Amino acid sequence: MSAAQSGMASGNETGLAGGTSYAHVKDGEVDTRHGAILYLDDITVSFDGFKALNALTLDIGVGELRLIIGPNGAGKTTMMDVITGKTRPDSGTAFFGQSMDLTRMSESTIARAGIGRKFQRPTVFENHTVFENLELAMKTNKTVHATLRAKLTGEQREAIESTLELIRLKGEVHRMAGLLSHGQKQWLEIGMLLIQEPKLLLLDEPVAGMTDAETERTGELLNELRGKHSLMVVEHDMDFVARLATGSTVTVLHEGSVLAEGSMAQVQSDQRVIEVYLGR
Ligand SMILES: Nc1ncnc2c1ncn2[C@@H]1O[C@H](COP(=O)(O)OP(=O)(O)OP(=O)(O)O)[C@@H](O)[C@H]1O
Ligand SMILES: [Mg+2]
Repeated sequence: MSAAQSGMASGNETGLAGGTSYAHVKDGEVDTRHGAILYLDDITVSFDGFKALNALTLDIGVGELRLIIGPNGAGKTTMMDVITGKTRPDSGTAFFGQSMDLTRMSESTIARAGIGRKFQRPTVFENHTVFENLELAMKTNKTVHATLRAKLTGEQREAIESTLELIRLKGEVHRMAGLLSHGQKQWLEIGMLLIQEPKLLLLDEPVAGMTDAETERTGELLNELRGKHSLMVVEHDMDFVARLATGSTVTVLHEGSVLAEGSMAQVQSDQRVIEVYLGR
């Protein structure tokens, strides 16, 4: 039994903590008093009898940068699908903080509750500038036209400025997003997610297709987020993973469950990990 299950308030339809047992937790706020932002417990997902996830159990701490590695088909993306409500597990529990039952929330409710997801391919508004993309991300509930006409508050402008700095696109602020390099588009999308202040950010193979220089800068960027955001990063690029590994836990998935977990050095010297993944 995970910590999430003991003494948790039952999740309701809206996915908000609400209710009497956590009266001091504001509506929509994630209850992380036990130190974790995410609890996956005994999750199984089957596709036509094939178990893409098989009794997967994994917790993520608040402010943690968790690295996830493992061979193709290990279930890494499926795990993110479960967390974001895209795929429902056959069994097991998935909790966001102590009280939000992700398996009972819709994808949009989960996103609003504070789980952001970066898919592999960049999805930016190509015909809008970098600045406008960030502006649009900040106010996702309006039409493009209404958002770009509405005046930004000083605070919003500052948020955009600091995000531009973080994603290294200050010099490209008025450029059409469609003209950016692949790596720059990826950074822009990360910025668009960050500006929505997610409590947990999931990144699926963020450096795939990037140049070496872009990969290195992405590593720096994610290191800057450490402690400020809770992050789950799936990656095959082991040089990149190694660059983020100091102070991080690495989880190795294999055949839908956790094969090994620990420091980079620990998993790298694990004979089973070498056999199924690193030694290929
Ligand atoms: N919608 C689906 N229908 C059927 N099978 C699926 C579906 N989604 C995933 N699978 C299968 O589940 C297994 C796990 O896939 P998943 O995409 O989660 O792996 P992954 O660890 O992300 O791999 P990769 O490193 O290649 O991205 C694979 O065998 C895949 O073919
Ligand atoms: Mg995948």
